[in-house]
Amino acid sequence: MNENSVGSTNIVWHQSQVSREMREQMNEHRASVLWFTGLSGAGKSTLAHAVEAQLHQMGVRTYVLDGDNVRHGLCGDLNFSDVARRENIRRIGEASKLFVDAGVMVLTAFISPFRSDRSRVRELLGDDFIEIYCDSSIEVCESRDVKGLYARARKGEIKDFTGISSPYEAPESAELVVKTGLLSLEASVKQVIDYLASRDSALQSKV
Ligand code: ADX
Repeated sequence: MNENSVGSTNIVWHQSQVSREMREQMNEHRASVLWFTGLSGAGKSTLAHAVEAQLHQMGVRTYVLDGDNVRHGLCGDLNFSDVARRENIRRIGEASKLFVDAGVMVLTAFISPFRSDRSRVRELLGDDFIEIYCDSSIEVCESRDVKGLYARARKGEIKDFTGISSPYEAPESAELVVKTGLLSLEASVKQVIDYLASRDSALQSKV
């Protein structure tokens, strides 16, 4: 569960005959990770799914990893302590790396509140990591309170709640900052797609 635990030993990497490059060539686009980060209720999942829909229409192979969904399965054993969140983000980083190797454009929607955890994923993925900060104030997120969690956190019913009783460390040099608290969903999607097209010329012809 942490860096000090005893892991697998005596294992040898098996090289695949089909490389990532071959998959990307077939897909006609680059694989990468769009890492959406922000407070609960900032619109990460909504934006990630809307961007995915647009990319899919453009013929891009995509997959969304969503915090709430992944915590039903792969990360169902983790709570919201700092250590468990770190492990959550580590697993998603590793899972994303597999998707990238499969030639897929993966979109992740996790609060991922700690800079050090996001930095670790950035190190793991290198150039393939695109950090997208869904910048919405706590006031806006709390006033929306789509899931009713902020109200419960204020009453003390949920401990370690991000923005209330657990910190959110905003990115300092995200590739993209989307003002999701102010912009329409359509404008937010356009900002992301325009950025991707500027980065991958193969995508430009698909927009
Ligand atoms: S993360 O911090 O480890 O990245 P993650 O994105 O997986 O969090 O899960 C966040 C979602 O879990 C929130 O959108 C919210 O619906 C729910 N949740 C439940 N408890 C908490 C909590 N204590 N803090 C934040 N979100 C919580």
